[in-house]
Amino acid sequence: MILVTGAAGQLGSDLVAALVGLHGREAVLATDLRTCDQMARSGADMATLDVTDPDAVQTMIQDGAFEQVYHLAGILSARGEKQPDLCWTVNVDGLKNVLNAVRGTKTRVFWPSSIAVFGPDTQRHRTPQVTVTNPTTMYGVAKASGEMMCDYYARKYGVDVRSVRYPGIISYGVPPGGGTTDFAVDMFVQAVKNGQYTCFVRESTRLPMMYGPDAVKAALDLMAAAPSSISVRTSYNLTAFSFSAEELAAAIESRVPGFVCEYEPDFRQAIADTWPEVIDDSRAREDWGWHPDYDITAMVNDMLSHLVDPANSHV
Ligand SMILES: NC(=O)c1ccc[n+]([C@@H]2O[C@H](COP(=O)([O-])OP(=O)(O)OC[C@H]3O[C@@H](n4cnc5c(N)ncnc54)[C@H](O)[C@@H]3O)[C@@H](O)[C@H]2O)c1
Repeated sequence: MILVTGAAGQLGSDLVAALVGLHGREAVLATDLRTCDQMARSGADMATLDVTDPDAVQTMIQDGAFEQVYHLAGILSARGEKQPDLCWTVNVDGLKNVLNAVRGTKTRVFWPSSIAVFGPDTQRHRTPQVTVTNPTTMYGVAKASGEMMCDYYARKYGVDVRSVRYPGIISYGVPPGGGTTDFAVDMFVQAVKNGQYTCFVRESTRLPMMYGPDAVKAALDLMAAAPSSISVRTSYNLTAFSFSAEELAAAIESRVPGFVCEYEPDFRQAIADTWPEVIDDSRAREDWGWHPDYDITAMVNDMLSHLVDPANSHV
């Protein structure tokens, strides 16, 4: 059996569908505070689980005898700046509850960290695996703490926990949940719907990104890797491509003629300004064979093919 927390989210809903496709619907228990249509459509069993409740997490993990837990429940960067206490509680205490519940078992855990662990002191181009982090957002502080906790539980208690530092994830299934890279998804949706988008970061903002199917593939590949191949128990750097907001707008405009993007940076600009532009993910490539399937052109084409409404005159 496989447990997924935060299963109704942007990543969780796609991951649950992939896990059901691989292992069958009876093998996957999808949990969250809420449900969503896509989670229901996957056919997986569903349950409510608040990861900040240690007893509920302990009981569910003990009773379920899960071989794998994908612990995705989280509060993302932009929401985390508005609700820092909640961000810490869900992202750090929630992770600790899961790690405590699997201690002494053979359960393998996947927990996503983020490029948000990096901050203004970090080398922004080809950011190395091991480097200064010093994040300046609560989300980054929580993710950096979570990474160290994973490493501690792996060393001290032998917990088989695995993690990647996801870049911004672009997907079309469930809308993103309040992150700084949400502009990339919003740009596609608004281009198809209205032919116009007002972007909340400036045009030159360049960030590492990844298409949703590759984010799912990374989680599955890392969890399938032999324990002996995992040399990083904090979290692996991971990326697919980097682009600036204006480069994405141009790529969309080439497929959606007449699309106009304007730029009105808000508080999320200050967050984006502290993150790397390009990530070095060579350790993930060497250790467990990571490689993305989608480059930016393939991602743009696939996103648009899923979002386009044939009745929409902009496309
Ligand atoms: N989407 C990205 O670009 C991105 C990038 C880097 C890392 N990540 C990480 O991947 C994970 C999943 O992200 P996502 O994009 O799917 O986020 P999301 O906001 O779309 O989904 C997170 C889910 O967690 C749930 N949740 C919140 N509090 C909870 C609680 N107390 N108990 C149980 N569930 C709770 C929410 O209801 C939501 O469905 C998070 O840990 C996030 O930090 C995402």
